[in-house]
Amino acid sequence: MRYDSITDVIGDTPLVRISPAVHGLRNIDLYAKLEMLNPFGSVKDRAAWSMTRPKLATAVERGDAIVELSSGNTAKALAVIAGMHGLPFKSVTNRMKVPEIKDLLLLLGAEIEELPGQSECLDPSNTDDPLTRIHRMLSEAESGYLHTDQYYSPLNLEAHLAGTGPEILRDLDGRAPDYIIACVGTAGSSTGVATVLRAANPGIEVVGLVADKSDFIPGIRNIDEVHEVGLFDPATYDSIETVTADHAIDGLLTLVRRCGLLAGPTGGGAYHGAVRHLRALDEGLTERRTAVFIVCDRVESYLSYIRKRRPELLNQPPRQNSVATLTEAELAEVTALDVDAARKWIAEDRPLVIDLRGPFAYAALRIEDSINIVDELFDELLYGGLPFGKKQPVLLACPVGEKSVRYAALLTRMGHPDVRSLAGGIIGWRDAGAPLVRD
Ligand SMILES: Cc1ncc(COP(=O)(O)O)c(C=O)c1O
Repeated sequence: MRYDSITDVIGDTPLVRISPAVHGLRNIDLYAKLEMLNPFGSVKDRAAWSMTRPKLATAVERGDAIVELSSGNTAKALAVIAGMHGLPFKSVTNRMKVPEIKDLLLLLGAEIEELPGQSECLDPSNTDDPLTRIHRMLSEAESGYLHTDQYYSPLNLEAHLAGTGPEILRDLDGRAPDYIIACVGTAGSSTGVATVLRAANPGIEVVGLVADKSDFIPGIRNIDEVHEVGLFDPATYDSIETVTADHAIDGLLTLVRRCGLLAGPTGGGAYHGAVRHLRALDEGLTERRTAVFIVCDRVESYLSYIRKRRPELLNQPPRQNSVATLTEAELAEVTALDVDAARKWIAEDRPLVIDLRGPFAYAALRIEDSINIVDELFDELLYGGLPFGKKQPVLLACPVGEKSVRYAALLTRMGHPDVRSLAGGIIGWRDAGAPLVRD
């Protein structure tokens, strides 16, 4: 195999059968489409190349920077492509959540701009999300940027209409599978593949997988977030199902330990979601069926993600007080104060008000005298040691009141007798017209 450029190596990834001894399905042949074997490591290599290739000559001539709202695989592939063409690459994101990917982007020469998102509630008088504003600015011609626009670009979809989908058909000897199961981020890969396969087999069942709302799975969205994506069309999917981080890690473990596939969390989530969906159908089948799931990227970048959620896998003591271990009963016991009750409590008892949002949002607007401990750091302090004692009354505030309830329940379990949560979060406080201060 000889190539003129590494970009010629993008695509043509293998379709590998999963042993029935592993998945246990009796009537279904299950295949993994190994997008992790693309040269820069993920399914996004295809989209990144498809979105840049037609515009590179002009960008090089003008010296434009490539820019994308991504903190993951798209950014990684774009950073490589930009570097190969002597262009700068800028990743705009509302929080770099996977440290290995941030480090890798910096190593590749990317510039990273971290901004708060809408849910962080930056400024109530401004109804635009900062990312939305940047998106609008970048899309203007003559902006000096080649904005690839992965959430809206038809070229993202095109990569899978022309590549991923036809490859699966070809490798199954022209017969489309009966089921396709894929995680949904920009929806580019699932939509492109589903479109091609459905044209060949209108009876195909398409299962889209999103992250459970309580969980973060790097690379994919939850059911609310997915509706904000321009390429997402609910009609593409016969069903949309959720996977938790635990499911994703369980699936990843099966793939890495038993199948020789060094898949990342969304590959694991896709495997888990596929087997869960297919197991329910398998018994009733009278003919053999074929199913394909997509393995988007590799495991190596997610070791800190796994360490945090399943430390025992990496020979570390289990985290007893993690959010994932909370019961419904513990959550139901939390005192969640509405805005009036919270204001009264603050005035009378002076609890420590901890704002769990990101530093940008906190700096822009906050409850007077509150302190800022961003939720990820707060999570670490639960194990490393909290900067306040058990007798200290605490009011926790987050964007909408979902995270603060969980951390209040954990602190209560850990023996803090008076920890309360601000119902509706800072957004609720703002909407009630209660006072906020800024730097
Ligand atoms: C690890 C990972 N899995 C899955 C996806 C989803 O792919 P798509 O954007 O085509 O929906 C992405 C997208 O960025 C990803 O990075």
